[in-house]
Amino acid sequence: MSQAIESTLHESRLFNPPAGFSDAIGGAYVGSLDEYRALHERSINDPESFWGEIAGELHWFRSWDRVLEWDCPDARWFVNGKTNLCYNCVDRQVDEGHGDEVAIIWEGEPMPGGKPEVRRLTYRDLQRETSKLANALKSLGIEKGDVVTIYMGMVPELAIAVLACARIGAPHSVIFGGFSAQAIADRVDDARSKVILTCDGSWRRGKIVPLKDNVDEACAKTSHVENVIVLRRCGNDVQWNDDRDHWWRDLTLAAPDECPCAPLDSEDMAFLLYTSGSTGKPKGIMHSTGGYMVYTYLTSRYVFNLRPGTGQVYWCTADVGWITGHSYIIYGVLPNRVPTLMYEGAPNFPAEDRFWDIVERHKVTQFYTAPTAIRAFMKWGDEHPKSHDLSSLKVLGTVGEPINPEAWMWYHRTIGAEKCPIVDTWWQTETGGQMITPLPGATPTVPGSCTLPFFGIDAAVVNEQGEEQPHNSGGLLVIRKPWPSMLRGIYGDRARFIDTYWSRVEGMYLAGDSARRDDRGYFWIMGRIDDVINVSGHRLGTMEVESALVAHDAVVEAAVVGMPHEIKGEGIAAFCTLGPGYEASDELKDALCAHVTTEIGAIARPDVIRFANALPKTRSGKIMRRLLKSIASGEENTTQDTTTLEDFTVLAKLREEKEG
Ligand code: WT7
Repeated sequence: MSQAIESTLHESRLFNPPAGFSDAIGGAYVGSLDEYRALHERSINDPESFWGEIAGELHWFRSWDRVLEWDCPDARWFVNGKTNLCYNCVDRQVDEGHGDEVAIIWEGEPMPGGKPEVRRLTYRDLQRETSKLANALKSLGIEKGDVVTIYMGMVPELAIAVLACARIGAPHSVIFGGFSAQAIADRVDDARSKVILTCDGSWRRGKIVPLKDNVDEACAKTSHVENVIVLRRCGNDVQWNDDRDHWWRDLTLAAPDECPCAPLDSEDMAFLLYTSGSTGKPKGIMHSTGGYMVYTYLTSRYVFNLRPGTGQVYWCTADVGWITGHSYIIYGVLPNRVPTLMYEGAPNFPAEDRFWDIVERHKVTQFYTAPTAIRAFMKWGDEHPKSHDLSSLKVLGTVGEPINPEAWMWYHRTIGAEKCPIVDTWWQTETGGQMITPLPGATPTVPGSCTLPFFGIDAAVVNEQGEEQPHNSGGLLVIRKPWPSMLRGIYGDRARFIDTYWSRVEGMYLAGDSARRDDRGYFWIMGRIDDVINVSGHRLGTMEVESALVAHDAVVEAAVVGMPHEIKGEGIAAFCTLGPGYEASDELKDALCAHVTTEIGAIARPDVIRFANALPKTRSGKIMRRLLKSIASGEENTTQDTTTLEDFTVLAKLREEKEG
């Protein structure tokens, strides 16, 4: 059992919603655990009436005939209903008289010594800009159903791009700006996407990330791309292909500023988002329109207690390139009519107090970040948050990986001044929205536990037969009933969809995590059950990294495992055997790290590389990953000098003898 689990097993500190929280937030939507339990029970027993009521709070061009049709694993929510995500995020606010209210607050990366660059976009601005861009896309022949690839930095135009696609029913596929040209090409190929929206570059710690160059390189690797739309952000030099490239400004200036929102079927695909699995190839997770809209709207509202018109400012620090950014920067927040803050750059540039400076200046009320960031803040020192007025904060959130109790307590005390409930939200790219989470005014919290399922979510810990496990024993985390924002499939790969999520435990969605419930019934996430590692809250398949390594001439065989990492949660350890003529050296390590960065992106860069004359294998030829994991975490040390070739086969033999 890992140390993290060992320590959380004994965690018993309980924190009730702080006194006065409800008043401070303008009234908690759900004010007590009893209220939560009653509503949860109703949502599980009668999902159709529960979700029908919520959906009715949003705009539909045509109402649904039935709330749910379920033929496991295929769900249809709000059957035959017609709606539009962009309409509900933007146009509805304008129609209801709120066009001049701020929808998006944007903080650019400050130039050293310069003033922070802030832009505020109203719902009316978004209506005009999404209409113009939607018309520009149409002028390039993009129609409903065409996948639009978006590879941009964190600029307001990224939100505009996503919403413009929603306006016309062209599903977007957003690729995080840290991914490589190869990763773009793979995703473009898989989705057969004809158009890419990008920027000349993006700012990160005062340096320019050359996004357009990466797109050019990707286009050379795929034949699908017909048009590239380029936003000027950094002013860096770019190569230009007259037949393919268009400046964003030219296209949108020429485009009319009216474009009606297309009435889309509730089940029309809203977007694709690629995520790592246990095989080499990332999978395109498909999300629907109506169900995704309703679920992200309600979770945003209840989990952060969003109250329009009360001066709240909501900030989620994720990148729009991840599901967190899709659901909890854009789609779930805008329909709730609370300004959503977007920032460009990094938490520690120009200084390590950047976040707290932003919180103070914008009087942020709800703040949502990842445990890896919290651990980095702890390390950078309390003086940074302490030098700012953080008293505007009301709710703190965390997502992406288990939060260790020490980090939770620091967040609670140093950022929340012990008066802000912490919502530790467990969910996944596939689930579309938050699944297991406290409600800030209702759920007593325990550091390290994501507590209880959201409304409509029938989460359980089961064994392989689907039988619920007794409290305090571990098992597989499953969801036993359909929920509105569940994935509708893996793009172009039905077999993988069934195989990954629906075949191991019959009739239940397999999340891929192991978990346990404590005496209170609270959920504790224990870790992945597949070959997926979680690096700084980002999911990576070990096989993806292995494929990148063996693509290098020097490497014959590679095995990649996760290892404990102080800041990232999990780091990447790679064990490689070398081909003839290659010698273990620090230079080769650097070259391999650089190689993985070009193949996938900097997030996949190994933290440790060790060279072996052979990888330890069982008699049947399987790589002994558990042994490599314990070597990587320092439990079984071989030599101190890891630049030489090591012999792990000896350890493997010893272990096989020991374990029989
Ligand atoms: C995996 C999903 C959902 C947005 C970010 C990650 C882990 C996520 C928590 C949490 C413990 C968590 C799980 C999950 N995870 N949130 N609050 N506590 N673990 O999305 O890349 O799809 O990864 O992240 O292992 O399966 P993702």
